[in-house]
Amino acid sequence: MKHTKVKSLLSSGTTISEVNAKGWVRTFRNNQFIALNDGSTINNIQCVVDFENTPEETLKRITTGAAVSVTGALVESQGAGQKYEIQVSKLEILGDSDAEKFPMQPKKHSLEFLRENAHLRVRTNAFGAIMRVRSVLAHAVHTYFQEKGFVYVNTPVITGADAEGAGEMFQVTALPLDNLPKNEEGKIDYKKDFFGKSTNLTVSGQLEGETYAMALGQIYTFGPTFRAENSNTSRHLAEFWMIEPEVAFNDLDDNMDLAEDFIQFVIKYAMDKCQDDLKFLEGRLLDEEKSKPQAERSEMALLEKLNFVLENNFKRVSYTEAIDILRDSTPNKKKKFQYIINEWGADLQSEHERFLVEKHFKSPVIVYDYPANIKSFYMRMNEDNKTVAAMDILFPGIGEIVGGSQREERYDVLVEKMRTIGIDEEELWWYLDTRRFGSAVHSGFGLGFERLVLFVTGMTNIRDVIPFPRTPQNAEF
Ligand code: 4AD
Ligand code: MG
Repeated sequence: MKHTKVKSLLSSGTTISEVNAKGWVRTFRNNQFIALNDGSTINNIQCVVDFENTPEETLKRITTGAAVSVTGALVESQGAGQKYEIQVSKLEILGDSDAEKFPMQPKKHSLEFLRENAHLRVRTNAFGAIMRVRSVLAHAVHTYFQEKGFVYVNTPVITGADAEGAGEMFQVTALPLDNLPKNEEGKIDYKKDFFGKSTNLTVSGQLEGETYAMALGQIYTFGPTFRAENSNTSRHLAEFWMIEPEVAFNDLDDNMDLAEDFIQFVIKYAMDKCQDDLKFLEGRLLDEEKSKPQAERSEMALLEKLNFVLENNFKRVSYTEAIDILRDSTPNKKKKFQYIINEWGADLQSEHERFLVEKHFKSPVIVYDYPANIKSFYMRMNEDNKTVAAMDILFPGIGEIVGGSQREERYDVLVEKMRTIGIDEEELWWYLDTRRFGSAVHSGFGLGFERLVLFVTGMTNIRDVIPFPRTPQNAEF
C-alpha cells in the first residue's frame, strides 16, 4: 500500500477505510496516542494504537524520533484539536530512536542549542515551518520572474573577477598550499594553478548578469554567493543566496518599481501558501516577545506586519533627505547613535537604517541617489556629478534587504571611474565590451534571500533561516 502524506490525510474531507502513513514520532502519550509528523505540514496526525493487542516490546519502541509506518482507518477524531485520526491496525517500526539520547526532546530548546544540532533541528515545528516557507519563497521568486518573461541565468560560482571591485573574497585554488609555486618575482605563480589565473568564489552574479541582460532583455540570477567579510552579526552569512534581476532599458525609477512589486508578490505568495506555518511562527514570535521588556516589543504581530508591507507603498527618500532626517533626529542629537551623523557623505550604518524604517517612517524605505564615493564603480553618475543612481531598500528588523542601481552605460565615464579607483580595465575587458557594442540604459538589484526569509518568518538571526549556516569559525556539517 502506498503511503499518503499527512497533509492530505488531515484535509481529506471524508473518512477512509484504510490508509497508510509514514513519518516520525513526535510524542507518544498514554501508551496509546502517537503524534506523527512527516514534514508535509506543521500539523501532526494522531494515530491511536490498539495497545491491548500490541506487544509490549513494540510499544516500547514507539519513542520520540522513531520512524514508523501506520496502517488503519482514517476516522473522525473524538478528541479536540484534530478533525481526523488514524485507528491503527498495523504498526511497523521502521527505525528506532534512542529516546534518552535523541537531542530533539518534546520541549522548548534554545536556538543556540538547535544551531549545534542543525541536522536535527528541522525535526522541530519551528524549523520545519521555516524551511517550508523558505522553499515556497524560492518558488515565488521563480514564479514572479518567469511569469514576467525574465530568463533565469546561472552565473558562475567560480569567478576570475572581483565583481564589486572590493576584497573579502574566498580564494579558489588547486595549488598545494604547503608548497606554492613561485614566479621570478617570488610571488605565487597562478599560471600553474588550475585555471591558469587566480580565482575566487563569486560575491555577486551581477557583472556576468549584465552581459546577458544586454541580449535577453530581462534576466535574473538566483544562486549562492560568498563573502569572507568577518562580520559576525545576526544579518551576515559567509555563504548566502542572492536574487539578482537585471533589465535592459530600465532606469532607477523602473528598478525601484520592480523591486517593490517583486517583494510584495513573493510575500503575498508565501502568505497564501503557508498559512499554517506562518500562523505557528506568529505564535512563536508572540511567545518570544513576552520575555522582552514592553518597550522593545514589536508593535505588530507577524501577519499584520506582512500585510502592512503588502498594503503600503515603500517610502522613497533621497540619501540627502535621509541625512537631513538623521542629523535632526533625537538619537543623533543625544549622541545615542554609535556613529553620529554630522555631514553629507557619511555612510549609513545599520543603526541609521533601522531608525529611518522603524522609528521615523515606520514603513519599508527606499533610499536612492547615494554619494558616488561610498558606492560601487558601476553605478550611474547623476547629473550633479556627486551622487550615483543607487538604491537600497531597508526593512524593519532587518535593515538593508536590497541593494541595486542604474548602471553606468557610458563607456568613457565608466573607464574614467575605473581608472580613478584603480580597477584593472584589462581584467574587466568583457564587461566593458557591453558598453562598446550596443550599450543602453539598464538597471538591476540584488535581494539577499535569507534576509527575505528572516522577514517573512519573523526570525531574528540569519543562522536560523538557512539549513547549514556558514559563518566565521563555523562550517560544521
Ligand atoms: O548590496 P549588495 O552587496 O549588492 C550587490 O551585490 C549587487 N551586485 C547587487 C546587484 O545590484 N545586482 O548585496 C545585495 C544584498 C544585500 O542588500 C543583502 O540583502 C544581501 O545581498 N547580503 C547579504 N546577506 C547575507 N549575508 C551577507 N554577508 C550579505 N551581504 C549582502
Ligand atoms: Mg549593499
